[in-house]
Amino acid sequence: MNICVIGSGYVGLVTGSCFANCGNNVTCLDIDKNRIKSLKKGKIDIYEPGLSDIVERNFNAKRLKFTTNYKEAIENAEIIFLAVSTPPNSDGSANLDYIKNATMELSKYINNYKIIVTKSTVPIGTTYLIKNLIKSQTDKEFDVASNPEFLKEGSAINDFMFPDRIVIGTHNTKANNIIKSLYEPIIKKGTKYLNTSRKCAELIKYASNGFLATKISYINEIANLCEKINVNVEDVSIGIGLDQRIGSRFLRPGPAYGGSCFPKDTRAILATAKKFNTNLSIIKSTVKSNEQRHKILLDKISKILNNKIKKKRITFLGVTFKPNTDDMRESPSLKLIPKLHKSGAIISYYDPSGEKIDFKKYKNVNFVNKISNACKNSDLIILHTEWNEFKNLNFKRLVKKRNFLIYDMRNIYSHKKMISNNLNYFGIGR
Ligand code: UGA
Repeated sequence: MNICVIGSGYVGLVTGSCFANCGNNVTCLDIDKNRIKSLKKGKIDIYEPGLSDIVERNFNAKRLKFTTNYKEAIENAEIIFLAVSTPPNSDGSANLDYIKNATMELSKYINNYKIIVTKSTVPIGTTYLIKNLIKSQTDKEFDVASNPEFLKEGSAINDFMFPDRIVIGTHNTKANNIIKSLYEPIIKKGTKYLNTSRKCAELIKYASNGFLATKISYINEIANLCEKINVNVEDVSIGIGLDQRIGSRFLRPGPAYGGSCFPKDTRAILATAKKFNTNLSIIKSTVKSNEQRHKILLDKISKILNNKIKKKRITFLGVTFKPNTDDMRESPSLKLIPKLHKSGAIISYYDPSGEKIDFKKYKNVNFVNKISNACKNSDLIILHTEWNEFKNLNFKRLVKKRNFLIYDMRNIYSHKKMISNNLNYFGIGR
């Protein structure tokens, strides 16, 4: 099938290269000339395991093309995916400027029947808006459908090729059959295919992210209680997760959820609810709980340092919002590090994805490019992100100071083992 993907960022590039990998001819289009120039040279500015390989392979096989030219890309395509960004407005609602611009542009080149599919996370009703915009520009036949993405950064290729479900929002049989046949190689492997209305598909995306964010905030709050009553939250997670109605995933407590999706999408669904005069009080509480979480962590840091943060050497191992990504968006470290710096701590950090521009403005926050150098003189090591290379460290060898502390915000290590090794070790919810 001939496909065009508009927007060659994270979602667009993963979508385009994976469809090409399934044997389709895909043109990835972007208005950013430099990005397209780099992609044509095989340079990818996105940190995603496996993505370079799949792009390179399909580019060399001539199934994957990159262009800035709408005419060429749209005229040849049967299905056009919109994968442009929908950044938040100041009130939390999604900004649809990129969607509208791309829609207006693609409308000019509809030469025969096309299906326009939204992959971007868009507010409820956006597919109608797109349909009306195109209708105002052309008499040619087309359909608009919604196909939300459920890709996790760090495992996006696997999530694309082996998803839990594929959701298609359209009640048009012709469009549904064509999109379904595009996904056939994935459906064949056992993935559930759900065909629903466009509005419902749009809501499924927001409601999924809202639910997952709530699950995380829920276990984070249960972890707070565990610390007070001396119960291990890991056991609680296992115990409740064994109930199939609840499920065990996304019950890992941590320093708060971050990234470009949960924080943005929970605020956006609240903006939608406000518009429709509905009180989503549970998601409202989730957002509040997550936004306030850094205060609880800072109190704990202060407590374990005996209220003496000034001049203490604190090492962050990992600063990204999750492992296998270089993404810093809404990472809890962005709240924790500046606050600790303000209290007089001397901070060094190491992250496998490299130095971060976000911390350059702080005098006493420095990137160190080796775990051992970052930990050598530490009073407190904070395990902030669960990168694999932090999972088997010999802290006694790494740290030269005598009474150093470890605060494991991801519960990477066994509490029992760390204590029996005479380490001053603290986790979350235990
Ligand atoms: C999330 C969703 O998981 C994807 O399904 C969705 O497609 C994507 O948003 C999106 O809307 O595009 P992502 O933000 O890449 O994916 O990462 P997650 O793995 O979901 O993690 C989000 C945050 O929650 C991270 O900060 C992570 O550390 C935290 N988290 C996750 C926990 O604290 N505990 C958990 O048990 C799971």
